Amino acid sequence: MTQLKAKAPLGKVIVITSGKGGVGKTTSAAAIAAALAKRGHKTVVIDFDVGLRNLDMIMGCERRVVFDFINVIQGEARLKQALIHDKRVETLWILPTSQTRDKDALTEEGVEKVLNELKEQFDYIICDSPAGIERGAQLAMYFADEAVVVTNPEVSSVRDSDRVLGLLASKTKRAEEEGTEVEAHVLLTRHDQRRIDAGEMMTVEDVLEILAVPLLGVIPESTAILRASNVGMPVVLDEPSAASRSYEAAVSRLLGEEVDPRAEREKKPGLFSRLFGASA
Ligand SMILES: Nc1ncnc2c1ncn2[C@@H]1O[C@H](COP(=O)(O)OP(=O)(O)O)[C@@H](O)[C@H]1O
Ligand SMILES: [Mg+2]
Repeated sequence: MTQLKAKAPLGKVIVITSGKGGVGKTTSAAAIAAALAKRGHKTVVIDFDVGLRNLDMIMGCERRVVFDFINVIQGEARLKQALIHDKRVETLWILPTSQTRDKDALTEEGVEKVLNELKEQFDYIICDSPAGIERGAQLAMYFADEAVVVTNPEVSSVRDSDRVLGLLASKTKRAEEEGTEVEAHVLLTRHDQRRIDAGEMMTVEDVLEILAVPLLGVIPESTAILRASNVGMPVVLDEPSAASRSYEAAVSRLLGEEVDPRAEREKKPGLFSRLFGASA
């Protein structure tokens, strides 16, 4: 009788999306992937932003790109040839995208094939979505199991995130074929208490009232992010900062762990405990 070997569970696909550009998706995809990998989870972060190619710069591996996601989709390279192994974290990999090809190079069948292959090998597959709600963004979310909707505390960003939440509920494989939902979380980035106090930005409560999905974390506006991205370092791999602590706490919540509110920047006593519920 043949011995049946227990099959390892498939990796989880998490899309980092937003609608609006420049809100911090790529920064967050890099930080979340690095934080997951630091905890020992085998993680790959994929750049879906064909033509822009920001992720490999933020990850500090732009000089190591030979083949990319599009080459793999088009059969010009094997996945193994395109994956870049991070030099700092043993369990972290990057699948860069192409700077030159047109966006139609990303096909639904191609994306599904690559993701299925990655799901066999990785615990987490983090998809960095392009801005907008067009084809590229829709393909980045289509095969997702979970979504992190990156939002800034301002009306235009929240409105775009709300649209994206609508797409996540209807235009994904889970919604169309499986009748299940993509689990969505909000990650509020570039939070600036001074601008909120001055009435220039929305409060966290205001944002959550509109979006009505659980809050994964609040990332402060921070020069540590700029410094880290200038040297090609996901912020959680750089020196400790309020921003890196906030990303670590967000990843703990993503993993369903309890988060000690003292671990987070707490300008207003009680604010974080209130927002994240009793378990936070
Ligand atoms: N929390 C933050 N504080 C300060 N600057 C930030 C923060 N998050 C992102 N940025 C900056 O905002 C810009 C856009 O970020 P990026 O992650 O590329 O956004 P997106 O991928 O959504 O277009 C970058 O210059 C980035 O360094
Ligand atoms: Mg980006």
